Amino acid sequence: MKKTILVTGGAGYIGSHTVVELLEAQYSVIVIDNLYNSSIGAITAIKNITGKDLIFYEGDCTDFNFLKNIFNKNKIDAVIHFAGYKAVGESVEKPLFYYKNNLDSTMTLLAVMREFLCTKFVFSSSATVYLDPNDVKYNETTTQTNRPFSPYGSTKLVQEYILEDVAKGFEFEKVGGLQVVSLRYFNPIGAHFSGELGEDPNGVPNNLAPYITQVAVGRLRTLQVFGDDYPTPDGTCLRDYIHVVDLAKGHLSGLEYIFAKEGKFFDPINLGTGAPVSVFQVIESFSKAVGKSIPYEVVGRRSGDLAEFYADPVKAKKVLDWQTTLDLDKMTADSWNWQKRHPNGFKNL
Ligand code: WQD
Repeated sequence: MKKTILVTGGAGYIGSHTVVELLEAQYSVIVIDNLYNSSIGAITAIKNITGKDLIFYEGDCTDFNFLKNIFNKNKIDAVIHFAGYKAVGESVEKPLFYYKNNLDSTMTLLAVMREFLCTKFVFSSSATVYLDPNDVKYNETTTQTNRPFSPYGSTKLVQEYILEDVAKGFEFEKVGGLQVVSLRYFNPIGAHFSGELGEDPNGVPNNLAPYITQVAVGRLRTLQVFGDDYPTPDGTCLRDYIHVVDLAKGHLSGLEYIFAKEGKFFDPINLGTGAPVSVFQVIESFSKAVGKSIPYEVVGRRSGDLAEFYADPVKAKKVLDWQTTLDLDKMTADSWNWQKRHPNGFKNL
């Protein structure tokens, strides 16, 4: 009997790539998305890429009755929870909007899961829960010495606290306890190999890769490099970029781990390469992919940026038997393949 997975935020960048892998692994998939920062075009692309169908509900994870109706109609074996606001800059301007939505969606989802005896939860977390300036290589025991530098990051950390406490508590006891894998991403970039699914941020991109591809396709004039005076080999920041398809496959490994493990638990697991690269290296790789140099100007540092941080990927290999397989040039080539085929992303499709 096929297992059914509920994917919240499944029309988003990482969610949609994960849905492709779930369908190709023969899971049945239900997607919830309020389309606040995503497009129905991603759902169409998923169906075209896989040749498989899925159930899509447009709605909000903070709506208890909306969620209850879905659980009433479908037997759901596990949940992968991506839905949440994630723009660092916007979260600084609207912290209450971020805390209310991100925390409320997770707590509402847990309340409905408990009512329907669904105990398996894969959470979309982030390296932003670390961001300890005294540490650069983060493993899952790295303690949080400073609060995340944005309200967005704080919502991720607090959601982990909620999930860990509920997993340790007794509200799911009658069904054996809540089982959580919290996947902490580093810097996801890239796109599906088909070029039909990719990153499509609202407005001007905050992140490096989509900004570069929009410069390359002519939507933006030039890239601003936020500082080349960091204590790193070439002066620009080092990050652990991970191909979004590797990341999506990491979610399937997390799901299989949960299905195989007994008892209640909260397991944080890093998803990263463990091999940081610099902004200049990313620019150089994109120049190769695009076939022309990427225009850029070096400006002042962006507040909140750390010189470097990257994953210790050992636990994911040990516990999930998962590791990344795709290198930086594949990430940039696939990012560019998506952007050149869809200069305006899913808009105007
Ligand atoms: C990477 C590097 C910038 C844009 C963020 C979130 C994190 C996660 C991933 C969600 C930095 C430089 C960037 C530009 C630049 N998101 N840069 N010019 O800040 O490492 O992480 O995205 O979970 O939570 O914090 O990613 O892509 O914004 O920046 O020079 O126009 O590129 O200074 O060194 P970041 P990023």
